[in-house]
Amino acid sequence: MRLIFLGPPGVGKGTQADLIAKKYSISKLSTGDLLRESVDKRTPLGNEAKNFMERGELVPDDVVIGLVEEKLVSPECRNGFLLDGFPRTVAQANKLSSFLEGKGETIDRVVYFSLPQTDIIKRIGGRRSCPQCKAVYHLESIPPKEDGICNICGSALIQRSDDKPETIQSRLAVYQNQTKPLIQFYKDKGILFELDGSGVVAGVRDRLVALLSQLG
Ligand code: AP5
Repeated sequence: MRLIFLGPPGVGKGTQADLIAKKYSISKLSTGDLLRESVDKRTPLGNEAKNFMERGELVPDDVVIGLVEEKLVSPECRNGFLLDGFPRTVAQANKLSSFLEGKGETIDRVVYFSLPQTDIIKRIGGRRSCPQCKAVYHLESIPPKEDGICNICGSALIQRSDDKPETIQSRLAVYQNQTKPLIQFYKDKGILFELDGSGVVAGVRDRLVALLSQLG
């Protein structure tokens, strides 16, 4: 199974991607996670990406495409993969299509997560992440058992630097201008399926599993 999760920042793609990758035993590739890891490790790629990410802008296409292609040829992706947060521009999508064509593969389906903007802002504003094990919480809807502490590894939770109110607005604008055109791009290919991202995590997961199994 080869999937893409598409949608605005904070809609819940990453939360569902973890559940679905586990359920179907496929590899989850999140470009946001890969880039944050490179920033934390201060690799040359991370140093290049850092300022773009902090401003809420997209990292240049060639940087991200190189990162994804390197992962897609690795043995972890042999059973299939789920791309979370990639592609994000039409240029990235075209590059992905030709890369997969070269391997005789295609994307099976693209799931577009939709949610009203007021809910998106609440989800991003309340997000807290574990810098150590990368678990994601929400202050109201998915709080940790102990305030500010990761349930899994006990580390202090942090707010992502791009989850501050001023950056949220620029990420939403970037989504509108650069990523939203991908909805039509994949609709035209007949592989786009819209998923209502509202409600509790388990409810969204159930709708998603139903959608994926319905499609055969
Ligand atoms: P990235 O990490 O991909 O961020 P994003 O797309 O903006 O997505 P988010 O991680 O913000 O949200 P999500 O949809 O995964 O939501 P989540 O599940 O966490 O990218 C970060 C940056 O990296 C970009 O701005 C860019 O600079 C760069 N980048 C990445 N990919 C790139 C690319 N391809 N090209 C160029 N640059 C790239 O949920 C959000 C919150 O809601 C959490 O707190 C969660 O606990 C909570 N939640 C989730 N589901 C529910 C629910 N059903 N009910 C209640 N709360 C929920």
